[in-house]
Amino acid sequence: MDTLHESHFPHTPRPMTDQIDTLLTEQRSFSPDASFQEAALGAADLYAAASTDRLAFWADQARALDWITPWKEVLNWTLPHARWFDGGQLIVAANCLVRLLHGPRRQKAAIMWDGEPVDRRVYTYWDLAREVGRAANALKTLGVTKGDRVAIYLPMIPEAAIAMLACARIGAIHSVVFGGFSAESLRDRINDAEAVALITADGGYRRGQVVPLKRFADEAVVGCPSIRDVIVVRRVGGGEGGASETFASMTEGRDHWWHRLLEHASADCPPEPMEAEDILFILYTSGTTGAPKGIVHTTGGYLTHTTATTKYVFDLKDEDVFWCTADVGWVTGHSYVVYGPLAHGATIVMYEGAPDWPDRDRFWSMVATHGVTVFYTAPTAIRAFMKWGPSYPAKHDLSTLRLLGTVGEPINPEAWIWYHEQIGKERCPIVDTWWQTETGGIMITPLPGVTTTKPGSATKPFPGIEAELVDAQGRPMAGGGGFLTITSPWPGMLRTIWGDDQRYQETYWSRFPGRYFAGDGAKLDEDGYWWILGRVDDVMNVAGHRIGSMEVESALVDHPSVAEAAVVGKAHDLKGQAIAAFVILKEGQTASPSLRDDLRDHVVGKIGAIAKPEDIFFCGDLPKTRSGKIMRRLLKDIAEGRTLGDTTTLADPAVVSRLKEMYGEE
Ligand code: WT7
Repeated sequence: MDTLHESHFPHTPRPMTDQIDTLLTEQRSFSPDASFQEAALGAADLYAAASTDRLAFWADQARALDWITPWKEVLNWTLPHARWFDGGQLIVAANCLVRLLHGPRRQKAAIMWDGEPVDRRVYTYWDLAREVGRAANALKTLGVTKGDRVAIYLPMIPEAAIAMLACARIGAIHSVVFGGFSAESLRDRINDAEAVALITADGGYRRGQVVPLKRFADEAVVGCPSIRDVIVVRRVGGGEGGASETFASMTEGRDHWWHRLLEHASADCPPEPMEAEDILFILYTSGTTGAPKGIVHTTGGYLTHTTATTKYVFDLKDEDVFWCTADVGWVTGHSYVVYGPLAHGATIVMYEGAPDWPDRDRFWSMVATHGVTVFYTAPTAIRAFMKWGPSYPAKHDLSTLRLLGTVGEPINPEAWIWYHEQIGKERCPIVDTWWQTETGGIMITPLPGVTTTKPGSATKPFPGIEAELVDAQGRPMAGGGGFLTITSPWPGMLRTIWGDDQRYQETYWSRFPGRYFAGDGAKLDEDGYWWILGRVDDVMNVAGHRIGSMEVESALVDHPSVAEAAVVGKAHDLKGQAIAAFVILKEGQTASPSLRDDLRDHVVGKIGAIAKPEDIFFCGDLPKTRSGKIMRRLLKDIAEGRTLGDTTTLADPAVVSRLKEMYGEE
């Protein structure tokens, strides 16, 4: 699955009933917090402004950036191809770095970084600008020029952000590959983009172990004819001739130490002006089928979208300390670790390692140490914290926090409430932000101080974003369950799939002609709130009723014994599909037939008999991709007693073999 050899995947239309039945109803709601009134005043106007004149609204947002040449046209739209701010020119690195440099704030911290082994570095905006300038000059000396692709395969270290910004400074297109991917995945991505250079590190730390990135990079690059140079950041080695050699053997003529190149490079690198529609980066994303797609993002629109959303969704103030826990290998790391916050001159926190290293309170100890005020993480992490119990956050002073966010998957209402109570101490609004690699920035989200939130709902489209619910025939629906579509172009949208525009058109614009559809089911409630039900591939059809896996999962997680649950539809003679649930119990709970019955009853109680799980498998772990998404496809294989599909994208392949051993014969 995770290879680039087949360039098209067959578009297999699924039989669909007209709508998705939604059965879980969440009644709790939380009014906007009075302490966010300042944000509220600005934001209330935003909705009005955007609905009066959408393009003027986005143009206003774009004006918050520094342009060297004004655009001629806000939007040029020839379905499905958009050009935003055409004719405009801007300098990305200038927008992200230089804004603070000429004032008294140039020694403001830009990046406060913690390595996993508890080492620490702080870069001021001044430091960061100089490092970026050096790195940009280093790339130039290696002959990297505007439009060249540079692959970045690094741990979460400051050099990752520096490398991205250095590419932007010279107009090179970066393609960041998550450091947890294998050599083979890296190779496929490098080859698809035909990258000329690779920036990697000798290694990185994860749960106390060294991840030998350079070895993987060497393995990958053997099969990458386009790569001329490999630049290696020394992260784990203590000095040349030291430990690093065990992790990085350098190939003469091809490999260069980052610190050696930068040592000789000038910090002064005149930035390359970028056209608004010049490509800023490519980021690969795996679909449920087919080869990973190189999602293409351009410059002016992307920066406009990410800076506007950073400002209004996270209510960023000069004194904030913003921590988005995502890795730069994912789009969240691009948009809300690097580009959005740095364009605001914000102080960001970056962390290299695992949340449970050296102990399960690492995140909370960092929040306290750095005085984090705005914290943005994923539901999968929140569920892990829930499972570990409230004693870990309770050990630390979290009183600096004032706003919390989540992204990546639907958040179960119980996880939302836990986050609200245990982390936010019932003080901090929660922004549940729906978006995708393809959308570039946040699309559906509450605005703090403005939006009444409901646990589990991403609430309403961001101003200037137009979303519409449709049924399987593409007919607009006023409410109920259906398919989430976006009806008009937005600045941060993907422009195409690298090297495969046809696949771009087929994947996103053909299911509902004229509309963008990237595969999520959703429901719209009586207040016009959006509830994302997850990918439609995860939606089950039980006796003609379409039920989101997430709803059943939430019901299970709502049970006091359950820490995490994943639900799939398994083939069933009578019902079409029956529900199979994989359940992880909280620590101290024991699996038993009576608990199984109890859980079934609990789901029936929460949702109704239609959602009663046929099978409940207790397990210690769930098969997840390295980005933390549950691989339901594999669970389906297990539930249906089939041979396993491709497991190469799993974070821990042993999880499925254990599950197979336990339940394969059932
Ligand atoms: C898919 C996109 C956006 C950065 C991280 C993931 C799911 C994302 C939410 C949310 C419910 C969500 C959707 C979407 N998703 N955010 N707040 N509520 N679902 O990026 O890997 O491109 O995945 O993640 O299913 O389509 P991605």
